[in-house]
Amino acid sequence: MKQRIAVYPGSFDPITYGHMDILFRSLELFDKVIMAVAYNIEKKGLFTVEERKDIIREAVKGNEHVIVDSFEGLLVDYVKKVNSRFVVRGLRAMSDFEYEFQMASMNRNLNKDMDTIFMMTSKDYFFISSRTIKEVASFGGNVDGLVPPVVAKCLKEKFFNT
Ligand code: PNS
Repeated sequence: MKQRIAVYPGSFDPITYGHMDILFRSLELFDKVIMAVAYNIEKKGLFTVEERKDIIREAVKGNEHVIVDSFEGLLVDYVKKVNSRFVVRGLRAMSDFEYEFQMASMNRNLNKDMDTIFMMTSKDYFFISSRTIKEVASFGGNVDGLVPPVVAKCLKEKFFNT
């Protein structure tokens, strides 16, 4: 039987429990979900793309339905390359909507067969973003419960060399 594959793209710099909530819920709909870390020349990340992939692999360790990968260029091309036509994205608030709507519409304009599935972030995580996590961690704030343990550890290493 044909496997239903979805691509969950993002910067994931770093992955948070908000992302993981969307990931695990999307696995209810798809046989395989590819976490695709985007190379973005405009956004210099805290972690390299390779580091982000290693962190995600550790966070989802043992789950054979999750594939961790990265891509350069257009998302529509990557989605086609992996024989999918579905993209998964999370929505936290109205403020996400405009950007996501633009992106999904542009992607559909580029490939009319592609669909973006949006999921509302669970109430426990709607206030989390990779940006705020990095800011809190950079000042030594506690991010436990908001990110997987491997992320908390890597943030400490990045900011405090511990
Ligand atoms: O986590 P992010 O930074 O919100 O993810 C954005 C991402 C990586 C999904 C988006 O920037 C993207 O798809 N980049 C690839 C380039 C592309 O296809 N652009 C056209 C859509 S506007």
